[in-house]
Amino acid sequence: MNLKGRDFLKLLDYTTEEINYLIELAEKFKKEKKAGIEHKIHKGKNIVLLFEKTSTRTRCAFEVAGHDLGIDVTYLDPSSSQMGNKESIADTARVLAGMYDGIEYRGYGQSIVEELAKYSKVPVWNGLTNEFHPTQILADFLTMKEHFGYLKGLNFTYMGDAGFNMGNSLMVGCAKLGINFTACAPKDYYPNEELIKTCQEIAKETGAKLTFTADVNEGTKNADVIYTDVWVSMGEAEEVWNYRIKDLMPYQVNSKVMKNAKESAIFMHCLPAFHDLKTKIGKQIHEKYGIEEMEVTDEVFESAQSVVFEEAENRMHTIKAIIASTL
Ligand code: CP
Ligand code: NVA
Repeated sequence: MNLKGRDFLKLLDYTTEEINYLIELAEKFKKEKKAGIEHKIHKGKNIVLLFEKTSTRTRCAFEVAGHDLGIDVTYLDPSSSQMGNKESIADTARVLAGMYDGIEYRGYGQSIVEELAKYSKVPVWNGLTNEFHPTQILADFLTMKEHFGYLKGLNFTYMGDAGFNMGNSLMVGCAKLGINFTACAPKDYYPNEELIKTCQEIAKETGAKLTFTADVNEGTKNADVIYTDVWVSMGEAEEVWNYRIKDLMPYQVNSKVMKNAKESAIFMHCLPAFHDLKTKIGKQIHEKYGIEEMEVTDEVFESAQSVVFEEAENRMHTIKAIIASTL
């Protein structure tokens, strides 16, 4: 498998075999790291991380993965580059590509990361846009593979805001790998029709079944994986909370939902999660709307079924596989 020089912008650009290869490569790196075996295969290279939104996991994963591969890493925070304000995306891409061997971008529209890639002569990796979060999906699938031993044929249910970056990318990833995907959400929160159509075509080849339902009982029955994400994503207006809470509270992942899934089901979340009052936003929402937990209850989050911290660790191993194979 040769992915040298390729961008990693969305899973739609990658074949089933290539996605499986990246997951297998991540497994290999993870084993080596745990065994204390170094893999500094890109010594002397430099990469830059361009963040227009905040991050804990993605930034740290790129930094640690880079260092483990022998790479020097530069981090540009949401306020300290010229991009957007004084310099166009096209110019930024050409400047950075002259100094670095790879560019990570986290920000707003998918069109920005696509434009960066168009003007960059070095690989560009998508560290989250409004539409897609492809590096997260590799970590999710590695976690599922470690837990169940296989991926094809698993029943995966996404609860809540299925029309934003996580729902979109998970639907694409599931379709590509033959995982049965259910979006369990109100109709207005399904991924857009064009993306659904594209995924249905892919699913015909891989055998994945795609289901869209507003019925929680039906959507979570027989699920192997119950997945959710925040109800309001980075960059969305604060007023959105008003109707999101009302619309999505019926899709909260609680013990009743987990009981309706398979007994062996796991709970997943890309994180950060609002499951208690230990965050600033969690407290503000509590004061304004009176709720203590949002997309997932603390009970489920802290339960034995929850694999969220393994999932978070796997961000690093999978991002390492992407960097290593595309540089
Ligand atoms: N899951 C995820 O992308 O987390 P961060 O926002 O902390 O990077
Ligand atoms: N949907 C979330 C994902 C965070 C990793 C957001 O975009 O804020």
